[in-house]
Amino acid sequence: MVLSILQGARILATGSAVPDLCVKNEELSKIVDTSNEWIVNRTGIQERRILNKKEESIITLASLASIKALKNASMNPLDIDLIILATSSPNDLFGSAAQVQAEIGAYNAVAFDLTAACSGFVLGIITAAQFIQNGSYHNILVIGADVLSKWIDWSDRNTCILFGDGAGAVIIQSCAKEDNGILGFQLNTNGKEAHQLSIPYEKNYIIKTRNDILDINQGQFKYLHMNGKEVYKFAVSQVPISISKCLKSLNILPEHVQWLLLHQANKRILHAVANRLSISFNKIISNLNKYGNTSAASIPLALDEAIKDKKIKKDDIIVISGFGAGLTWGTVVIQWKC
Ligand code: UT7
Repeated sequence: MVLSILQGARILATGSAVPDLCVKNEELSKIVDTSNEWIVNRTGIQERRILNKKEESIITLASLASIKALKNASMNPLDIDLIILATSSPNDLFGSAAQVQAEIGAYNAVAFDLTAACSGFVLGIITAAQFIQNGSYHNILVIGADVLSKWIDWSDRNTCILFGDGAGAVIIQSCAKEDNGILGFQLNTNGKEAHQLSIPYEKNYIIKTRNDILDINQGQFKYLHMNGKEVYKFAVSQVPISISKCLKSLNILPEHVQWLLLHQANKRILHAVANRLSISFNKIISNLNKYGNTSAASIPLALDEAIKDKKIKKDDIIVISGFGAGLTWGTVVIQWKC
């Protein structure tokens, strides 16, 4: 989609945070029937970070990542107009963004959660860009944070080896139209395949109110369930199509892309997508060997690392794609303007 804009939007700064506890593949091989060799060959993951300190939560990680991004932007939290927290593992079903707002002292900001699993951060960037490009807001904090460790069945080798916890944040600021850095996007959802990856809610008992006036269903969320093979096939077939459509709408050729930043789910997916687009593997930004699949956090975590490593230069074109539960997938193309 090509945007018609009143003012430009650009990413000003990034920040990230991960828990201290590092769990290596060898340790997982002591709790489920797996091996370091299998995990590395099939996924590229070597270790992941898991939240285990009682006093820490997704709010701690999201706040820390945000404070780092604010510091890198030399920005006062009171200057933030809007906070979007992309997460599927909030501390409260009503959302956690408001608590992050309070924790970082961004008292002038409106704050809300956005739930779109591993595509959440891409949707967050695009949502923020709308508020800026139509002239409503000037400074927006977008956070991708997930603590899926609390929804994992730690006896299921199909899933427990894949995920890690973390948070990444970016500050998006308004700028002149000519300096616009959020160039365009392409988004998709296929709810018919929702069952392939979910944390389903199960109704398991009925409460009868006094005098049997009402029967009320109650239940609880179950563990994360994923049909890995089907999600893999979906990712490698649909993500290249989304990227191609988005680049075509912007008249950008794949050879003019400097960086490919995909949701960090599996090294084989990153390579297969790059292959289909004829984008060289050395343009792939990846850190999933150290963090595993951190869901909504994976893209901003990898972006922050690439910025710290000074990989990304001014005016570089970065193709960012998220994919996962929903099923939801999509692309945003940005040009680095700092
Ligand atoms: O974040 C949202 C997006 N998520 C994704 O994109 C994930 C997409 N899916 C994947 O990345 C891959 O499908 C997995 C990494 C989850 C699995 O890799 P795979 O190559 O598709 O393996 P598989 O499920 O086909 O399993 C192959 C074999 C099976 O054994 P048999 O039936 O061939 O005897 C599994 O039981 O590997 C076995 N297996 C394992 N063996 C050792 C499954 N998990 C493990 C394990 N350790 N952890």
